[in-house]
Amino acid sequence: MTTASRLLVIGNWKMNLDFVEALHLGQQIGVILKNRPAEHTDIVLAPPFVDLRSVSSIVDSERIAVQLGAQHVSQHDNGAFTGEVSTAMLKRLDVRWVLVGHSERRSMYHMDDEVVAATLQTVVQAGLNAVLCVGEDLAVRDEGQQSDFVSAQLRSALAGLDEKYAEQVSVAYEPIWAIGTGRSASGEQIRAMASTIRAQLKALGLAGTRVLYGGSVNAENAGSIVSEGGVDGFLVGGASLVAESFLAIIGACDGCYAGKR
Ligand code: 13P
Repeated sequence: MTTASRLLVIGNWKMNLDFVEALHLGQQIGVILKNRPAEHTDIVLAPPFVDLRSVSSIVDSERIAVQLGAQHVSQHDNGAFTGEVSTAMLKRLDVRWVLVGHSERRSMYHMDDEVVAATLQTVVQAGLNAVLCVGEDLAVRDEGQQSDFVSAQLRSALAGLDEKYAEQVSVAYEPIWAIGTGRSASGEQIRAMASTIRAQLKALGLAGTRVLYGGSVNAENAGSIVSEGGVDGFLVGGASLVAESFLAIIGACDGCYAGKR
């Protein structure tokens, strides 16, 4: 089970919901959270860039206990980078968290290890929290190389990171074969990888970093994954687009945490 003082659940809306739809989902989440507040779990919503302002306004006006996250950010501070967004722009919108190196960015937008490391530095130096995404594809898993693969991703992104930034970093283990497939990793697979990740983080001077799991998490499997997998929370895709299922996942984390303490 987790050793973190609080769990963390992040809803990654990916490229879904326009700013009006985002407002509705934010409102629904707010209503449910008022009735069923999460006591041990930090909640982050990561909508598309163009929705950030509407989600931020509803979170502020309704005083909803969630923080804002972005799905990506440029490694550069400003300049001729068409289509990109900077950390300063995100901070102006009250964004506190940024996903770094999501597998969809790595595979579809050529975000290699070097860019992931540079982006992570930019994020923490800006005072934002980075959620470093790691995870192997099916071919690597079939060869039994997943621990080496993920450890290498961690070293490449985090080696040399000043320890003063340790508290701003979380790691999300998202095996690519489990993302959006309806086939989540088993509790045993997640537990084994969480322990590999924690050992690697310790070696890098980042002990205490929260380790999340992502990949086909839903209201039904969240409870068993968080207890059997020993993770500190979730990075949720599809199930975060429906208020009830997202809040059920948060409830499962919260209940598990309370039960184990
Ligand atoms: P799903 O929960 O839809 O599998 O997506 C996981 C993910 O990629 C979150 O970042």
